[in-house]
Amino acid sequence: MALLFKSETDRASLWRDAFARLAPDLEFREWPEVGDPAEIEFALVWHPAKGDLKRYPNLKAIFSLGAGIEHIFSDPELPRHIPVVRMVDHGLTRGMTEYVLMHVLRFHRNVPELEAQKQAGVWNYIDYPPAWERRVGVMGLGVLGGDAARTIASFEFATAGWSRRPKRIEGVECFHGEDGLARFLQRTEILVNLLPLTDATENILNARSFAQLPRGACLINAARGRHLVEEDLIPALDSGQLAGAALDVFREEPLPAGHPFWAHPKIWISPHVASVTQPSTAAKGVLDGIARLRAGLPLENVVDWSEGY
Ligand code: NAP
Ligand code: GLV
Repeated sequence: MALLFKSETDRASLWRDAFARLAPDLEFREWPEVGDPAEIEFALVWHPAKGDLKRYPNLKAIFSLGAGIEHIFSDPELPRHIPVVRMVDHGLTRGMTEYVLMHVLRFHRNVPELEAQKQAGVWNYIDYPPAWERRVGVMGLGVLGGDAARTIASFEFATAGWSRRPKRIEGVECFHGEDGLARFLQRTEILVNLLPLTDATENILNARSFAQLPRGACLINAARGRHLVEEDLIPALDSGQLAGAALDVFREEPLPAGHPFWAHPKIWISPHVASVTQPSTAAKGVLDGIARLRAGLPLENVVDWSEGY
């Protein structure tokens, strides 16, 4: 039994060690050193090379190294009969919640303005409302958005969420569908994006959606760069419609040198590190999936082709 591994980070040795500890019988083959393609039964990948996954005649499941799967689905030659499993991992979930909470608190407590004041040597009181009067909204109430929304609500923020289908989450006002979007945006002062990238969600963060937010709202985009119409962001910030943006993801990564986002004082940038899958916890999840397949049980967290996530 062999597992094909491909990542774009330097964390392969962590994965190799985790699998060696938990499943010594599983051969860990790091792409492109795959050996005999017929021996590969499982793949654990991030941005697989186009056409590569069709080369393995005995491949039984493709596990995504990330929660997002568009890096796999964008391969026109992907063997569609093989299940694709998205990453659900406690370390990934809590890492994202930390990131979101950090920025919600940062915007709520005016940290960007306080930092600018410190640079200028200015002592000026900046007021802020109690958390229960600060309206935070999370787009996407799945594994990551659901955990982030629950955590934000536990800090007593007035928390709402938006999903495709109706949801009930204690302490979170839930909106759904096209009809719920405008009402969700109109009440949201700090907007968090944790949607998957699909045909329906691409470009969802645009001038029109920014205009529906209350003036001076803030944006936290931790999902995908293609959710944001980049040309619409700076005008919204410069006009004051948006007060700030924290961006972890970009249409082009790495964000090119000279991109106007780098120099904009109201944009905070991180290099797609909002959360990373943790081998120490996630390897077990992959092995549980393999065990379910071997036992003839249905796999969990399989991506639905028709829904795109
Ligand atoms: P998930 O569990 O599949 O949840 C997706 C959520 O989005 C669900 O609540 C779903 O609604 C909602 N949704 C999907 N399409 C929608 C639409 N058209 N309108 C309204 N709501 C829609 O995904 P997840 O595990 O939480 O991950 C979310 C995304 O985070 C990933 O796809 C990835 O892009 C991103 N991510 C980024 C990083 C980073 O470091 N920056 C790390 C991990 C993940 P239903 O509940 O009704 O299905
Ligand atoms: C990271 O971006 C992921 O999708 O897990």
